[in-house]
Amino acid sequence: MLLTDDDRAMRDGRDGDAVAAAMDLLVRYGEGLGAERLCSVRNVAGTSTQPTPAKEKIAAEGGWNKAYAVINLDCDDEIEIPKMRVPTCQLQHGFSADALNITPYNPHLVELQAEAEAFASDRGINILATCTPYQVGNLPVRGEHIAWMESSAVVYANSVIGAKSNCEGTASTGAAGLTGRIPYWGNHLDENRHGSHLIRADVPIDSFLDWGLFGYFAGQVVQEERPVLTGELALPSQADLKHLGAALATTGGVEIFHLPGVTPEAPSVEAAFGPHRIPDPVAFTASDRRRMYELLNNQGNTEDVDFVLLGCPHASLDQLGEIAALLDGRSLHPGTELWIMTPRALRAVADRNGYTEVIQRAGGRLLTDSCPAMSRTAPAGTRVFATDSAKQAHYLPAILGIEAWFGTTADCVQAAITGTWTGELS
Ligand code: F3S
Repeated sequence: MLLTDDDRAMRDGRDGDAVAAAMDLLVRYGEGLGAERLCSVRNVAGTSTQPTPAKEKIAAEGGWNKAYAVINLDCDDEIEIPKMRVPTCQLQHGFSADALNITPYNPHLVELQAEAEAFASDRGINILATCTPYQVGNLPVRGEHIAWMESSAVVYANSVIGAKSNCEGTASTGAAGLTGRIPYWGNHLDENRHGSHLIRADVPIDSFLDWGLFGYFAGQVVQEERPVLTGELALPSQADLKHLGAALATTGGVEIFHLPGVTPEAPSVEAAFGPHRIPDPVAFTASDRRRMYELLNNQGNTEDVDFVLLGCPHASLDQLGEIAALLDGRSLHPGTELWIMTPRALRAVADRNGYTEVIQRAGGRLLTDSCPAMSRTAPAGTRVFATDSAKQAHYLPAILGIEAWFGTTADCVQAAITGTWTGELS
């Protein structure tokens, strides 16, 4: 791999042992990928605070420096972790102390995470604690190379913001934060970003639910590749785009989609495909729409709903406003819990402008930092849950062994109020 003088100096220890270990990891990783060189990043989103049994064991034996070295740098040496070289943030992690008397999350994991968070903060890592860092102060610019983890965030960054990231991991982001470098391959190269498939909606895609169903379908079709989405598409909101990207990265491994006119580098279908021939379209029909809806609901049998989950990916202020309006003056069914996930920074705004009070008065919970899939936690005794997120409906039955219903946000709020699932595809 071609290294700059600065790369070589970092690898050879100019900036200390941790940076040398980070550069060594990036070179090994890049060579494994066939990257010819590294590129500079000034925006890293990774994780060093999520509590895991392995991390706990290493931290107990060797402290948090050791835990970062082993887990975030693949290095067994005794090294001191310095401040990050470039702006770096923590993505979602486990629940924090303020969720303790609300969720049945293990208090021991909360303590462990608090220790890790203190260590990370001291090293300059911003604890945004969300899968949507772009909503709360981490907004890269078009064309910028970044190093992000979290599939729903990466697809949003590539496709909506026009930044350039592969779906990185715990170790590569751990090393990128310390060096400001990442292997130059995959989505960092313009020639790898063009569309591969043309997916044409023959039914109107004009609601949060429909953007999720359309993404769930397109992800199945293209798998790891790059869909160009056309047809009867309304202008999506930010929440729609979050849902679309998360669904594409659920049934497929999509890291970039092109929505001509929305994706910055794709003003047209022709531009989305670049030098390549535009392929014949794959149609998304009314029967495909119904099939996706039924697929997402095939884990639901019992209509009594114990638990409703909203905010995956973490809810925007607009979504919180919509949910608060649906709950205003209502009360949850006594046997049903409602959790809404949002970034901590947006929770502060929701507290100030009254959304939180409306949600709590109805009996709902506005939670931050994590989600049931990430923390493997639902209200005690949950057997049946409902959600408006295709991603959670897909994953949570397998993770927690519970039934799932998928529908609109209004269907879900109605289920929280009545305790009964009545959602149907209109
Ligand atoms: Fe975020 Fe959890 Fe969904 S991390 S994307 S709310 S699965």
